[in-house]
Amino acid sequence: MKLPRDYIIFPLDLPNRKEAMRYVGILKDSVGLFKVGLELFIAEGPGIISALRQETAAGIFLDLKLHDIPETMRRAFLSASAHGAAFVTVHCEQGQEMLKAAADAAHGETKILAVTVLTSLNSGHLVSLGYREDLSRDLKRLVLLKTRVARDAGCHGVVCSGHEVGAVKKEFGRDFLAVTPGIRPKWSIIDKDDQQRIVTPADAVGYGADYLVIGRPIRDARDPKEACERTAEEIASVL
Ligand code: C5P
Repeated sequence: MKLPRDYIIFPLDLPNRKEAMRYVGILKDSVGLFKVGLELFIAEGPGIISALRQETAAGIFLDLKLHDIPETMRRAFLSASAHGAAFVTVHCEQGQEMLKAAADAAHGETKILAVTVLTSLNSGHLVSLGYREDLSRDLKRLVLLKTRVARDAGCHGVVCSGHEVGAVKKEFGRDFLAVTPGIRPKWSIIDKDDQQRIVTPADAVGYGADYLVIGRPIRDARDPKEACERTAEEIASVL
């Protein structure tokens, strides 16, 4: 049975192995997965994944947000899957061929998640990037368009904000995974920072999210374990 804490993905957005392991020690019984993102992966290399395995039975989310030509993606996913992470991420931007190359190469335990529209972006950002005005103003439609491309290419799920997760689940079904960052509990002393499309943990799970990426509200809390447990209680209230 999936427990409330299993929904929580804690990003190890930390500069080195020592700091990462300090948080793993504090949170290993309180989260479902640890996310290794660009900061830690670039600092420590793939060895950080086996080091984490020795410390915790929690799953590993390798958040590389890859984005390249299809052949490079195919080769990158062959390499990335060898580490046995539960999830590896890719950007949607270059379309179906690139996503298919990545999805076909992902193997073993590894599922591929496609990042739709970063939760740090809003309509204004997309207009300035040259997106069509109607899609920039209707982010749900844009996320659904990208999700369809990702699903048809063979991805196992998407990363999207809590504002779009209900629509993604309605259109693509329960089994197609939705991971939601941009989580800000009402009780958190942390501001939204660079995040734009934020929701609370309860709302994200209520809308159908399978996992929540929740970083600074836990990492920067006075008591990170307590913040994590409070998040789990909030999730439990809507299950
Ligand atoms: O909760 P907080 O804002 O600190 O979360 C930041 C984390 O969420 C970072 O690790 C970032 O890479 C991740 N993120 C994500 N997808 C997004 C936005 C943020 O995985 N669309």
